Amino acid sequence: MEENKKRKVMLSGIQPSGDLTLGSYLGAIKNWGARADEFDCYYFMADLHSITVRQTPADLRRRTLEQLAQYIACGLDPEKNTLFIQSHVPEHTQLGWVLNCYTMFGELSRMTQFKDKSAKNAENINGGLFTYPALMAADILLYQPDYVPVGDDQKQHVELCRDVAMRFNNIYGDVFRIPEPYIPKVGARVMSLSAPTSKMSKSDKDPNGCVYLLEAPEVIARKFKRAVTDSDTERCVRYAPEEKPGVANLMSIYSACTGKAYAEIEAEFDGRGYGAFKPAVADAVVETLRPIREESERLLRDKGYLEQVYRAGAEKASAIAGKTLRKVYKKVGFVAK
Ligand code: TYM
Repeated sequence: MEENKKRKVMLSGIQPSGDLTLGSYLGAIKNWGARADEFDCYYFMADLHSITVRQTPADLRRRTLEQLAQYIACGLDPEKNTLFIQSHVPEHTQLGWVLNCYTMFGELSRMTQFKDKSAKNAENINGGLFTYPALMAADILLYQPDYVPVGDDQKQHVELCRDVAMRFNNIYGDVFRIPEPYIPKVGARVMSLSAPTSKMSKSDKDPNGCVYLLEAPEVIARKFKRAVTDSDTERCVRYAPEEKPGVANLMSIYSACTGKAYAEIEAEFDGRGYGAFKPAVADAVVETLRPIREESERLLRDKGYLEQVYRAGAEKASAIAGKTLRKVYKKVGFVAK
């Protein structure tokens, strides 16, 4: 590890396995841009991860570029943030293999994402789906980050990454910085609008549960109108996640989009019921996403620019990642080239 390092490092990624949702935005991307002036930031499209579930090649390519456009449209300036495509930086798979050999079968078996995804894809429980967290640990550790901004569902993977890094450091000395997950206070777990006890997920089969970043305002408004609220008789806007998961989910979305605290939201809709609340949440989301959609559409018309960004990003990322990989190869005893 480099000593006296002044700038802190942040890193995260998203799988282009579906169109980006409001969950990916509020749980992760919204947090990414905030510290670009103080931190060295690396954000990537995790295409290698996405093939653990079968993808249509043309869709994967399209979504990877759309995701890059959306990162930029969400405020990640490519001059200040290193934006790249994971498969363009071979060090990820190289370190991924090494870390596979330092990650235990029992640890991988306990991952809830593995359990969920293998239940959903019973016909394709492949080795990559199982060893995925070792690749994710490599994604992270290559860049020696201090923080990994993710939603709540990825906390377990970041914790496993820390355990693997500590195990490696215990054997070979101070090779990896031990990163911390950086999870937002509101929006860390956005739930489906149609089934508010399940997570909003870009690979969800029910599109009514998900709001996508590039979706038209009228479609977003319709989805919120139909959002499942709770069948309690009081019908008042009150934050009670156990009792009223549908309303609590809408309140957290509204809070994340407007910055209002739960008590303020309860006061705002006191005596007005769900009929007034749902359109207000829809408006807040539409206004939050409007500039992102417009800017993404503009960027997607300029493929040359996007290409320039991901090429430069891969080059910068590879220079940092290569340094860590060389150190690891040396430590484990590989002969230098
Ligand atoms: P992925 O692609 O499932 O999700 C991307 C990011 O969005 C967050 N997120 C949510 N947050 C709140 N509510 C939701 N409903 C919601 N849905 C998604 C996720 O927590 C995540 O931060 N394994 C990762 C991708 C990855 C990665 C990495 C992340 C690969 N390598 C290295 C960080 C560092 C994943 O599947 O995220």
